Parts: sequence; C-alpha cells; structure tokens
Amino acid sequence: MRTEGYEFAAPDSWDRFADVVALAYGGYDAAPAYRTVVAEVFEPKRSLLAHRDGRTCATLALYSLDMGVPGGRRPIAGIGYVSVDPTHRRRGLMRGLILRTLAGLYERGEEPVAALHTTEPGIYGRFGFGGATRAVHLEIPRHAREMTPSHAEPPLPVRVADPADCVAHIARIHEGAPERRPGTFHRDDAWTRRALTDLPERRGGAGRLLCMLAEDPGEGGLPRGYALYALTARWVDSYPRYDVHVRELFAEDSLAYASLWRALLDIDLAGTVIADRPVDDPILALLADPRSAVPVVRDQLYTRLVDLERALPQRAYAAEIDVVIDVADADCPWNQGRWRLHTGADGAACARTGAAADLSLSARELGAVYLGGTSLAQLAAAGRVIEHRAGAVRAATRAFHHDPAPFCPTVF
Ligand SMILES: CC(C)(COP(=O)(O)OP(=O)(O)OC[C@H]1O[C@@H](n2cnc3c(N)ncnc32)[C@H](O)[C@@H]1OP(=O)(O)O)[C@@H](O)C(=O)NCCC(=O)NCCS
Repeated sequence: MRTEGYEFAAPDSWDRFADVVALAYGGYDAAPAYRTVVAEVFEPKRSLLAHRDGRTCATLALYSLDMGVPGGRRPIAGIGYVSVDPTHRRRGLMRGLILRTLAGLYERGEEPVAALHTTEPGIYGRFGFGGATRAVHLEIPRHAREMTPSHAEPPLPVRVADPADCVAHIARIHEGAPERRPGTFHRDDAWTRRALTDLPERRGGAGRLLCMLAEDPGEGGLPRGYALYALTARWVDSYPRYDVHVRELFAEDSLAYASLWRALLDIDLAGTVIADRPVDDPILALLADPRSAVPVVRDQLYTRLVDLERALPQRAYAAEIDVVIDVADADCPWNQGRWRLHTGADGAACARTGAAADLSLSARELGAVYLGGTSLAQLAAAGRVIEHRAGAVRAATRAFHHDPAPFCPTVF
C-alpha cells in the first residue's frame, strides 16, 4: 500500500492543520482573523490528519451538519479541507483520509450521509459521491433590470444596514431555510459568524459587505428577508457600472423575496448584478429577460450514502415506491447488494432482500439523487442506472424528486 509509513490521527491543533491547508491551496496564508473564524467551526476530534516522520502531510475536516433533506433536517457529515502537501501527492493519502472517514462514520453509527464541495468535479465520484445540487450563475446586466409584474401588493420597504447590526434577523430568517430547501443547513452562532465574515484582505477589490432587509410594513413587524451583498466599483466611459455581488439572499415569503431583488436591481450605480442561485430560483421567473443574465449551471454539493440502510428511510419521498435496487459499492461494502425500498403511510423502509433487482446502480448515483435534485431518469438515460423492470426508473425518478431543487450556498 502506497500509504505505508504514514499515520492517520485526529489533529491536536487547528494551526498545524491550517498550515497544511494553506500550502496545499497555493501558499496563501489565511489572515489571522479568518483563521479564527474558521477555527470556530472546526471540530478537531472528528477531523483527520496524515503524518510521516513527525510532519503533517494531509488534512480532512469533518463537520456535524444539520442539513435539510426531503422531509426535514437530518444529521449530515460535512467534509471539507481535503488537502495533501504537494510533495506527498498521488500516493493515496486523499483516498486514505476519505475511506477512513467513511468507515469510521459507519462503524460508530454516526451520520449515514456525507457531503462535500469540491474544487474539481472529477475528484470524488470514484469514492461514491454524486453531484446532488446545482447552482445557476447569473450576471444580470443593467439593460435587463425589468421584472415581470408579480404581486398585487406593493413591494416591502427595504433598508440597508451593517450586517453586524442584523445578526439576529439574519440567523432567524436563515433558520427556516433548511426546511424550505434541501441542501441548506442550520447555522449556529459560529457558522453565522463565518457566513458574515468580511475581512478587507478577502474582498478582492469589493467594498464592505452590506445587508439589505425587507421590512414588514406592520408595526413591530420583523424583517422577512435579507440579502448580503457587496459592490465593486467599475466605470465605463465615465459612467458608473458597478458590479453588485449577491453573497446570499433568503426570504420567508415571495413578496419579501421580490422586494429584495427589486431593490438590488435598482441600485443606482449598478452595472451588473451577480449571483449564484438555485436552478429553480424565482428570479428566473421574475426577470422579464432572463436570457440577458446568461444563466450558467454548474455542479455544487456532492453527497454520499455512508450507511444506505439508515440513509434511505430518513428522507421523505414525493411518491409511493416499492423498488428493489442492486447497489455496487466497493468502498463501503456494507452497502453492496440488493435492497428493497418501499414507502407507506408510516414513512419509508429499507431492508436487504433476495428478490430480483428492478434497478442497478452504484453508490455514486444514489448519492446524486439523495437530495432530490438530480433526475434518476437522466442518469438512466446516460446508462448509469440500469432498469430491469419496465417502469421502475419512472417510478423511482418521481419518488426521489424534490421540489424546490436542493441548493447549498454555504461552502464548507
Ligand atoms: C486533490 C488532492 C487532495 C488529491 O490528493 P492525493 O493524495 O494526491 O490523491 P490520491 O493519491 O489519494 O488519489 C486518489 C485518486 O484520485 C485521483 N485524483 C487526485 N487528484 C485528482 C484531481 N485533482 N482530479 C482528478 N482526479 C484526482 C488520483 O489520480 C487517484 O486516482 P485512482 O483512483 O485512479 O487511483 C490534492 O491534489 C490536493 O491537495 N489538491 C489541492 C487541494 C484540493 O483541490 N483539494 C480538494 C478539495 S475538495
């Protein structure tokens, strides 16, 4: 085995961990203030390092997330900061970190599902992670600010504030997000601080982070939505054409949502409003000319069923289903084999079966469809899911689908 001579252990210090991460990601040393914010969400006892001859060579951070899946919030193991010292690459250290983590989660009966964001989409499919959420990148030009008429009521009043003064509102509004949309996860105080981090050295030329609040017009009413955004100054032919970068936008109802977008698109200096949004985001239905925003869809969160027997019943299904799936999973052999998934009045159940398979697929496809945003029929059309009983793909596609589409705007 190529990882002979390496030892795997939980980190004792965030700093040593962070040093390897900084080196692996190009030698950018994180500002001390940023390290502090990231350290607050770091869970050393759950994370992993690889050492050799007293030197730390590779890292993996594991986070205990409470994430929306179809049916409500569930524990999901978030994996982040997978990094290997450039002089120790392609010896199997990443493989060692990932497989040890998956086996540990299973053996200890912890989260039955793992999720990660990846720097490159080609890395994690081999370990059974499937692309589960997508984001659509929008660049809305000044000439396409017009919105299709929507609400009978006038827009809500919107005010701009310092995010530091709205932390409680932001946390409260975000709190409802995982129930509304799978892929978003509960953010405690430390995760909220991380989401609001705004260090000058990390702004990339933009101004400071601002917060827009859509206010409830009733007396004493609490804000019903917020947008976090920053402007980058840009002048074209002596005209202001600033970029407005929308970092995140959450609203409790559609009027608050539309009011925030109206206000963002109306910023006087704005040239282009830039945002990454869910693929079914209402802004695509609100813009009179969505084509001008040149929507570009890209992969986002990848999920992996660690313990299939517990993972499949812990989510809800959009339609009744009774299907036998034959799963190939060499890295997590306990998932391998034929499973009967059926739903009824008391929810879903999943158990081993000797019955003939209706569908064959690998862990990667199951991971991809788990949050309800990837179509099983699409994977079948690509030859990645094999149908043995006519109609099984169609039935399973309907059952696994979730509306609205999952989305994970918080990178971990
Ligand atoms: C990506 C990274 C973690 C890989 O670490 P590594 O220890 O060299 O990977 P391993 O030797 O365990 O490789 C396991 C497999 O992944 C493949 N692989 C590794 N990096 C890959 C990449 N960037 N793209 C596609 N495949 C990759 C290897 O070829 C190997 O393939 P195999 O299954 O055919 O044997 C490392 O290159 C790194 O730190 N990169 C910079 C940080 C980064 O991008 N991290 C990912 C964060 S999500």
